[in-house]
Amino acid sequence: MSNWQVDSWRQKPILQQPEYDDAAQLKQVEHTLSTYPPLVFAAEARDLRRQLGEVSLGKGFLLQGGDCAESFDEFNAPKIRDTFKVLLQMAIVLTFAGRCPVTKVARMAGQYAKPRSSNFETRDGVTLPSYRGDIINSFEFNEAARRPDPNRLIEAYHRSASTLNLLRAFSQGGLADLHEVNRWNMAFVENNPLKERYHDMAVRIQDTLSFMDVIGINSQSSPTLHETSLFTSHEALLLNYEQALTRIDTLTGKPYDCSAHMIWIGERTRQLDHAHIEFFRGIHNPIGVKVGPSMEEDELIRLIDALNPNNDPGRLTLITRMGADNLADNLPRLLRRVKAEGRHVVWSSDPMHGNTFSASSGYKTRNFDAILREIKQFFQAHNDEGTHAGGIHLEMTGQHVTECTGGAYEISDEDLAQAYKTQCDPRLNADQVLEMAFLVADHLRNA
Ligand code: PEP
Ligand code: CO
Repeated sequence: MSNWQVDSWRQKPILQQPEYDDAAQLKQVEHTLSTYPPLVFAAEARDLRRQLGEVSLGKGFLLQGGDCAESFDEFNAPKIRDTFKVLLQMAIVLTFAGRCPVTKVARMAGQYAKPRSSNFETRDGVTLPSYRGDIINSFEFNEAARRPDPNRLIEAYHRSASTLNLLRAFSQGGLADLHEVNRWNMAFVENNPLKERYHDMAVRIQDTLSFMDVIGINSQSSPTLHETSLFTSHEALLLNYEQALTRIDTLTGKPYDCSAHMIWIGERTRQLDHAHIEFFRGIHNPIGVKVGPSMEEDELIRLIDALNPNNDPGRLTLITRMGADNLADNLPRLLRRVKAEGRHVVWSSDPMHGNTFSASSGYKTRNFDAILREIKQFFQAHNDEGTHAGGIHLEMTGQHVTECTGGAYEISDEDLAQAYKTQCDPRLNADQVLEMAFLVADHLRNA
């Protein structure tokens, strides 16, 4: 890895960063963090990279999801538990339908930094710095709250550690038992207005588990029914934090960003000669890059070669976020080129970020049908081009919020005000996201 250093990104141009007014304090915080224990172990990141390698070769599916932005205020066990549960509920449906292993990656335990379309926000004639995520400043609209505070890096670290601790406990401690997960799915189906649509598959999963039980494959005899593995991920936007959590793995001697198993670069910070690409090219985690409709084929190949020069399957996930209206014009040409050049990537669909709009009520929202339409076209494009539709990437929560319109409960523009809680982008709620899983399952089976 020529000329790479853990801080070589500091020599490059960088976008979407806060302006700290106390450089010495920031430096002190970075030093403190660099002495703290890593949040994940490099061998876990390698395990995820191996699983994603299988996905890129067509032998698995990636399910990635969670909040747009985690919040310091809504940092509590029920919230973590509910998102964990719904990810598991989706995974069982997708595993059953796709007859393939589903790798679960949460947008949790570190999803605290946000790129913004504007550096400033104006309300009633008052202009303040934009909210950039809880690791940087506070959502509240006053001058003190919006001031970037280096101590928030430490706070984000501790919250990430606690979140990860609970996720690990849930994964191994019995909450992930497949029988239990399918019972939640049965309850979801029973209560859903469109229950006929989802009933069949839930019952078939139930029958399969009962059959296995009869022949002696159960939670006691088989730990795989009782436990699960869940990885963590976030957009690694604030490189001061990511650098401070980068460690040399004692087993391989290679640098890993131990803030999460997988990290990704956002659509707005993926310029080839900029800081984020520089930092990411040197760490050995599995990584993602968001790819929007403006991406050119040549540019994409250069990006792939910068981040994965050895063409190692599992290293790089391309998370496409085209928008339902733009996908047909832009995804197939990229799939064709990457395939023709023989590059190994995981193709995952983020059907959220290309489908955001402002409702007449003023709320930023997304519509269930547009999201589903992007996913369907994603599968169709891969089918046409002979490539593997490798995953989905969703902004979602296990809670009953009203942020996206549509779904079986027909959330309307007027309903958005009822429980609009996100600090950033609108998320699918627990019911909407499970419906999505049941509907995606059909496409996964056909694929
Ligand atoms: C996000 O995933 O929250 C995000 C900001 O997406 P994108 O980089 O695709 O805009
Ligand atoms: Co978002």
